[in-house]
Amino acid sequence: MGKGFYISRSAGRVGLLLGAAAAVTIVALAIVYAQEKSRNAAADDGGGVNGTTAPAFTPTPMASNDSWDQYRLPDTLRPEYYNLTLWPRLHMGQDGMYIFTGSSSAVFTCVKETDLILIHSKMLNLTTIDGHLARLTAVGLATAPAVEATWLQMETQYLVIQLSGVMTVGGSYQLDTEFQGELADDLEGFYRSEYVEDGVKRVVATTQMQPTDARKAFPCFDEPAMKAVFHVTLIHEPGTVALSNGMEKDTVNTTIEGTDVTVTSFEPTKRMSTYVLAFIVCDFAYVSAPKGSDNILIRIWARRKAIEQGQGEYAHNVTGPILKFYESYFNVTYPLSKSDQIALPDFNAGAMENWGLVTYRETALLYDPQFSSNGNKERVLTVISHELAHMWFGNLVTLRWWNDLWLNEGFASYVEYLGANHAEPTWNIKDTIVLNDVHRVFAVDALNSSHPLSSREDEINMPTDISQLFDSISYSKGASVLRMLSEFLSEPVFVKGLSTYLNQFAYSNTVYTDLWDHLQQAVDSTPSLSLPHSVNDIMNRWILQMGFPVVTIDTSTGELSQNHFLLDSESVVEKASEFNYEWYIPITWKKAGVGQEPFWLLQKTDTHSPLTATRNEWVLANLNITGYYRVNYDSDNWERLLNQLNSDHQLIPVINRAQIVDDTFNLARAKILNITLALRTTVYLSHERELMPWESAIDNLSHFFLLFDRSEVYGPMQTYFKKLITPLFSYFQRITLNWTRVPSSHTDQYNQVNAIWLACKTGLDSCQDLTKGWFKQWMQDPANNPIHPNLRTTVYCSAIAAGGAEEWDFGWEMFKNASIASEADKLRYALACSKQPWLLNRYLKYTLDPTKIRKQDVTSTIVHIARNVVGQTLAWDFVRARWESFLTQYGGSSFSFAHLISGVTKRFSSRFELQQLQQFMKDNENIGFGSGAFALEQSIASTTAKLKWLAENKETVLSWFISQSK
Ligand code: BES
Ligand code: ZN
Repeated sequence: MGKGFYISRSAGRVGLLLGAAAAVTIVALAIVYAQEKSRNAAADDGGGVNGTTAPAFTPTPMASNDSWDQYRLPDTLRPEYYNLTLWPRLHMGQDGMYIFTGSSSAVFTCVKETDLILIHSKMLNLTTIDGHLARLTAVGLATAPAVEATWLQMETQYLVIQLSGVMTVGGSYQLDTEFQGELADDLEGFYRSEYVEDGVKRVVATTQMQPTDARKAFPCFDEPAMKAVFHVTLIHEPGTVALSNGMEKDTVNTTIEGTDVTVTSFEPTKRMSTYVLAFIVCDFAYVSAPKGSDNILIRIWARRKAIEQGQGEYAHNVTGPILKFYESYFNVTYPLSKSDQIALPDFNAGAMENWGLVTYRETALLYDPQFSSNGNKERVLTVISHELAHMWFGNLVTLRWWNDLWLNEGFASYVEYLGANHAEPTWNIKDTIVLNDVHRVFAVDALNSSHPLSSREDEINMPTDISQLFDSISYSKGASVLRMLSEFLSEPVFVKGLSTYLNQFAYSNTVYTDLWDHLQQAVDSTPSLSLPHSVNDIMNRWILQMGFPVVTIDTSTGELSQNHFLLDSESVVEKASEFNYEWYIPITWKKAGVGQEPFWLLQKTDTHSPLTATRNEWVLANLNITGYYRVNYDSDNWERLLNQLNSDHQLIPVINRAQIVDDTFNLARAKILNITLALRTTVYLSHERELMPWESAIDNLSHFFLLFDRSEVYGPMQTYFKKLITPLFSYFQRITLNWTRVPSSHTDQYNQVNAIWLACKTGLDSCQDLTKGWFKQWMQDPANNPIHPNLRTTVYCSAIAAGGAEEWDFGWEMFKNASIASEADKLRYALACSKQPWLLNRYLKYTLDPTKIRKQDVTSTIVHIARNVVGQTLAWDFVRARWESFLTQYGGSSFSFAHLISGVTKRFSSRFELQQLQQFMKDNENIGFGSGAFALEQSIASTTAKLKWLAENKETVLSWFISQSK
């Protein structure tokens, strides 16, 4: 029993596959989809609490013990290599469908006796060969048992092959399949992307396999530890380009079933996981330079127009240096002969680290000095740096299972700053990890609904379990704790351990403790370094328990203590931790401006720490926020720090100025500190010109906007912020010679944007006149945009907010005509700033039409609208009303559901909104929340916390703002 459905089409013919007549394909695909659909439909109508059939995206746990009902592959077979041929059709069939056909031979070794083959296959229509969905032959000496039955197990996404007898341990076998699939525009597996060039629609066939969609392109053992060598051949229309992980080896023009085709075969890949495979057929051009001394061919691919306009140059310029940097940082050479990177018009994530063929969203790879901002440029740099880091950490050495995803993504998210810094050493990029990752994830990890970095292997099974792991905890907390580790080990020790780890496990798989072991060996061989505990014991406390500590320092006695920091002080932590929510904490500190000897806080309290201060000295801990914790002091020390900020803020390191603002605001949100103390840390900002503290303040003030922009606090708050930002605005007006020059430093360029953003938002007339004037000038002469790219997002937003339909429609026209995706993105963002409900509602509707808003941009557009106080309710209603159809349309595993839920509910802070959230959860418990389930819990938790906080603090905040405006 337990068998899913079984396509039994007789008269399968070997070799039919590649030339499969469209009609056959369509009928067959229709069968597959009908089956999948009927499951969904059953689930939808099945309704009720006890609906018997689970939908595809939230399957009920399997009762059966049959191995085909388990989501994990058995350990009986080990793939060795695949010979894979794919033929995507870039023209629509008569039925209006795009398809691909393919054939694959998977050669594997039997490592445990079995009479069953389970191989992943999803939404593929398999052609019958000799009466079955696959054919088994022996390789070498063994003889293959006969195939008895084959069927597709839809829920677990397997093709099951039941044999009449067992395979021999040590024997090699070959499994042949032939198949067709739809080349849909669903951004998953082998999919279709479209764009228009010179008035002609063009189609690209491309892939996104991670985490579990290689099985949607061909039957394969689709788990990261099932590494194999892939021999790929692509069949494509003459004149188009075919790319894959390996270098093009051979190109032959021929005819298959009456069609002229080019057959391109590629060098075999290294031994690697299925999720880093990539196949692309397109009509793109590329930039490259003569190979360097290391003989690696670097190519940047994109639409022909984009390449002609030089949009690939920047990516091309930084790739070589970044690859070189990693070769020396990891002490392992880049093992492939080429590095292709390609910008795709439709792409769900930001970028994907396919080995040798990295795929990107256009905005993450293309740069045009005429249109792109410095922020766009930095984005290109850091995304490239992130993905290239994965070439070693992730691709060469791969974690055994997805439960360790945090180490893969956290690692790349940490070292991306190092690679980027190497390419642009004047940008101060390394510091910004504090804002982008540490502070950002503190906000999530301080909730009771957070979760530990590391999950147990047996907790992560279904594709949705896996997708949910791609969250800010894995990325940003992962990056933050690895940075802390590298800091307390010192970089040379960290890279030494890293390098032996990568060398030992090259082309194979690991668990995170393998890395700890290698780092420990590096520690052990460094006599000058002494740690209070092993790397394993120190790190376990950071990765096996959720959250992080707040260290409280009493500088009058030197007493130090740690507590689990929770934003909702009343929440009861039900998840037990074997470490009692205590951490081993590296304490770095300064006293009266002088750096002191670091030490460890190893218990809940330390009554004899050296952290004491007398009357005029201040103590500052967690220098440059290299530790993943917040700090609180006795009130005298806070006062001394405040005095220092107000008298000469430069004596406090710039990152710690940002920290003081962020820590005090968050300690106040957690009711550990009085909110007025936090607000007082902002007063000195009228003298602050540096980016980091302003960014930190703006993050926290934005939180205030969300909390108060619908309440009576709004007016006095605006007045105060306006007063605060005016000096910064005037400063930039001055140094840019009345906005005619670009500030020279990268960070000043960002801070100029902050100045304009906040000044316009708080209604500073001179700011609004400036932005409206620029926009008007542009509307009068659309071919000559007078606004500097760095300022466009902010200026467009402010002008569209101040304007009406005319401004909006102009923005929309410009959006449609933009020749670079980053310019289109700026407009797409700004269009969400309108204050007219009807324009926002119309815009929301546009997100349902992929010819207006690409699917990849749907969630972020809705979230932008929700950020706007006028759009908030419209967006929330829009999402709730269509939740079910969103889920069915975009699948359960897509990256963005979490973003959608957290985005549209970010402003929630009232009891009524909390009820709506709870109702939403109840209404949809049957169909589920896809990869947004965590996010919904987090949103309920944070709304609850805000509600309580507001009840106690709103009046205080209001009167403080009023007192400041006098
Ligand atoms: N491996 C991911 C891409 C990915 C994300 C695939 C989610 C499947 C699901 C890639 O390395 C990545 O992390 N990309 C980031 C950009 C990066 C700079 C943080 C992304 O896509 O946002
Ligand atoms: Zn990544």
